[in-house]
Amino acid sequence: MGRLAARLSRRIPKVTSYHLFRRRGAMSHRDTGLLALLNQAALYRLLQRLLLRSSTRRRVVRDILRPYPGCRILDIGCGPADILEDLPGDIGAYHGFDMNPDYIEVARRRWGPRGHFACQRMDEVALPEQGSFDIVLAIGILHHLDDRDAGRLFGVAHHALRPGGRLVTYDNVYIENQNPLARWLIARDRGRAVRTREGYEALARQLFPQVESDILHDTLRLPYTILAMRCVKTL
Ligand SMILES: C[S@@+](CC[C@H](N)C(=O)[O-])C[C@H]1O[C@@H](n2cnc3c(N)ncnc32)[C@H](O)[C@@H]1O
Repeated sequence: MGRLAARLSRRIPKVTSYHLFRRRGAMSHRDTGLLALLNQAALYRLLQRLLLRSSTRRRVVRDILRPYPGCRILDIGCGPADILEDLPGDIGAYHGFDMNPDYIEVARRRWGPRGHFACQRMDEVALPEQGSFDIVLAIGILHHLDDRDAGRLFGVAHHALRPGGRLVTYDNVYIENQNPLARWLIARDRGRAVRTREGYEALARQLFPQVESDILHDTLRLPYTILAMRCVKTL
């Protein structure tokens, strides 16, 4: 390599998959400063353990996801796939994807053949086979996506679901007369696209005419507000 080329190559930062996922998500996903620590699966999982009430995930699975024997699940923004701790062993299949390579690496190491994991971003994910899933999960990801990528999420979910199948979403939300601490915490989330209930529902209704939603106030050990939506793919 000539001297000029060597000098130039020192100036161009190496683009790793880590840099790629940070740079492209910059608008609706904030992970600089202290928040960058949460890109490490171990720290993200520790924070979840500290903040989540111990019964929350179990209740969400039992009352909202409602898996059944043999059901095939697609998890969009699966993170380290901790949800598998609470999913029954008799589901038919679990496929998860997430843009964070460390989360996916940890999920693969931890769960091995219990799941299929892919490191992919919402805006570049390949469409799964049409109608090949019974339940699609989007737990905590919509508030990281601008309206265009959120529209894509609903499109991927709609395509992946069989008729009668359902998409379940679960995100922090702004509501009227919100507990001030809940609002303060939500405004500091890594996801910069937190919406109102009406905002989330309007996005869902573009493809899913049948949407039910609940506001949950008791998911964390601190005041917090969550919107869970169930969107059914009509026949
Ligand atoms: C709050 S975490 C939830 C993770 C997991 N569903 C859980 O319940 O622990 C949000 C996840 O969405 C992922 N994510 C955010 N934007 C994404 C995008 N554009 N494409 C794919 N994954 C994304 C993040 O990497 C993160 O794992």
